[in-house]
Amino acid sequence: MGILSGKVAIVTGAGGGIGREEALALAREGAAVVVNDLGGSRDGSGGGQRMADAVVEEIQQAGGTAVANYDSVATVEGGQNILKTALDAFGQVDVLVNNAGILRDKTLAKLEEPDWDVVVAVHLKGTYCVTRPVFNHMRERNQGGSIINTSSTSGLEGNFGQTNYGAAKAGIAGFTRCLALEGKKYGIRVNAIAPVALTRLTEDLAGFQDDGLKERMSPAHIAPLIVYLASDRAKDVTKKTFFVGGGKISEMRMVRTEGVTKSDGVWTPNEIADQIEQILA
Ligand code: NAI
Repeated sequence: MGILSGKVAIVTGAGGGIGREEALALAREGAAVVVNDLGGSRDGSGGGQRMADAVVEEIQQAGGTAVANYDSVATVEGGQNILKTALDAFGQVDVLVNNAGILRDKTLAKLEEPDWDVVVAVHLKGTYCVTRPVFNHMRERNQGGSIINTSSTSGLEGNFGQTNYGAAKAGIAGFTRCLALEGKKYGIRVNAIAPVALTRLTEDLAGFQDDGLKERMSPAHIAPLIVYLASDRAKDVTKKTFFVGGGKISEMRMVRTEGVTKSDGVWTPNEIADQIEQILA
């Protein structure tokens, strides 16, 4: 018996890359899995059923249980239909992994509205569209649940040429922390990961072509953390953001420095300038 037997998991964008490894690992541990994928290209264009179907077949051939869903996460109807696929096939949802994603990298100077809108729609709005119906299902079912969102170091630490993607990914981290508070009394845990792995999204990055790095940076290194967070062994873990990749797992935190308090009246800009090193320390 795997540590997830009896549980039902949805993984969005599970037709390739990190999501595929997550779906395979969840199924290996006994979860029944909804493999969602729009089947498009890396920039979000196109679509098709082949990617999701291939992962479903892979899971079934290994003795696991899975069904495919081809909806886009970026619409309210898509999110509702992903939940419906899970309920029709398995009657419940215990685990949601929001993983689907695209890239339209450009510096802000060249970033036109469509490339802003589509990236925010898939990542940030997509997280809303799928999570809301699943969260409400978990609340009504009253058996708790685990929601794992996919953020990025791009949003949490910054990355050149990714204001659209970074804004969406930092938004997902904020969404995670707020929803964790709302989920607490229902036993619904909400965490985020900031993964690093070699997939079609990152294959053109300098350094990732190195053969030694290919194995080290395989998306297979992300999946065990997802299985753990999905399992009852993580029953007290919520509102956290984990960095994960290349064998490393660590927690990423927002920090507030000790700061300086002025108790007699309002700061002047010159006083702030004089104390800036202590404020930032
Ligand atoms: P990938 O391109 O291999 O996988 C993303 C999957 O999402 C694809 O299979 C794609 O068809 C699917 N997808 C795209 N738009 C969709 C939509 N509207 N509805 C449903 N499915 C859709 O890329 P990768 O690297 O596996 O990315 C997975 C997640 O991890 C993404 O959210 C990405 O932003 C995030 N991430 C990846 C990093 C990396 O180093 N690979 C770094 C930081 C974050």
